[in-house]
Amino acid sequence: MKLSKLFGGEAATQKAPELPMAPEPQIAPKSLPAGEWIAGRIAEEPYWFHRIELPGGIVTPGWSDPKLDKLPHYGLPADMSGMRVLDIGNAEGFFSFEAERRGAAEVVGLENYPPMARKFEICRAALGSRTRTYMANVYDLNPGTFGTFDLVMFYGVLYHLRHPILALQKIASVCTGTILMQTATCDNASNKPMAEFHPFGLKSGPPENPSYDPTCFWFPNIACCIAMLQHVGFQNVEQIAKNAPVGGVFRAQAAVQQKGAPPDEMKAPWS
Ligand SMILES: C[S@@+](CC[C@H](N)C(=O)[O-])C[C@H]1O[C@@H](n2cnc3c(N)ncnc32)[C@H](O)[C@@H]1O
Repeated sequence: MKLSKLFGGEAATQKAPELPMAPEPQIAPKSLPAGEWIAGRIAEEPYWFHRIELPGGIVTPGWSDPKLDKLPHYGLPADMSGMRVLDIGNAEGFFSFEAERRGAAEVVGLENYPPMARKFEICRAALGSRTRTYMANVYDLNPGTFGTFDLVMFYGVLYHLRHPILALQKIASVCTGTILMQTATCDNASNKPMAEFHPFGLKSGPPENPSYDPTCFWFPNIACCIAMLQHVGFQNVEQIAKNAPVGGVFRAQAAVQQKGAPPDEMKAPWS
């Protein structure tokens, strides 16, 4: 039998009407060299926190230079080969990229402020990085969704939180190795754990152009930082970089040490 009979007889053998052609574009789309594209995206952003070196001599115009001011004091292992790393409040990503550069197998960043994640993506593209940032709150951390980590970087976030102990509990639930924590502290040198509370925040930002930050709440003393880490179950809590002008920096170990592992994406509680 002829196919034309099966699929509608004579009508099916008729030629389809010709569709009008799209007009030729008047201006051919311009393809920018990668460096120009990256520089343009960086210039579009009104505020940069981290100064980050990118390929082609491009440097993000951050007011904070973590390579000089923080990295030497924050306890990052020189060799991070094979580690699964969490970078909480990773801003534009300086420490995430540094962990990858030092050999980390996987770096997961967490940010609750969309402009930071957007700028992270510009740097990630420029660097060809495999690190990731997820828009989430530190309070969202749980092993079912995020897996567990060999190293958690918790730098510059604690004092921004209304609920610092809750955050540390959540971090403890995903940390099966080491936590590195840095925070602004108060001047109180007592051995008793104490914290200064600023209910409406305070001045922050670049020294020559400070602005009011309503999210600077808790400034614990050193004893309080150690006590909070111990309270949620961390062990061998030690203050590092005691003489550097970087607030309090601490290293501690999870009570049960295990290799960090990604979540089972078929079982994670996605809905
Ligand atoms: C002072 S910056 C520190 C950035 C980087 N970790 C460093 O040490 O240079 C604090 C970052 O934490 C983020 N952040 C604040 N509260 C957060 C929360 N509850 N969950 C996740 N990120 C948070 C902010 O958006 C900001 O990017």
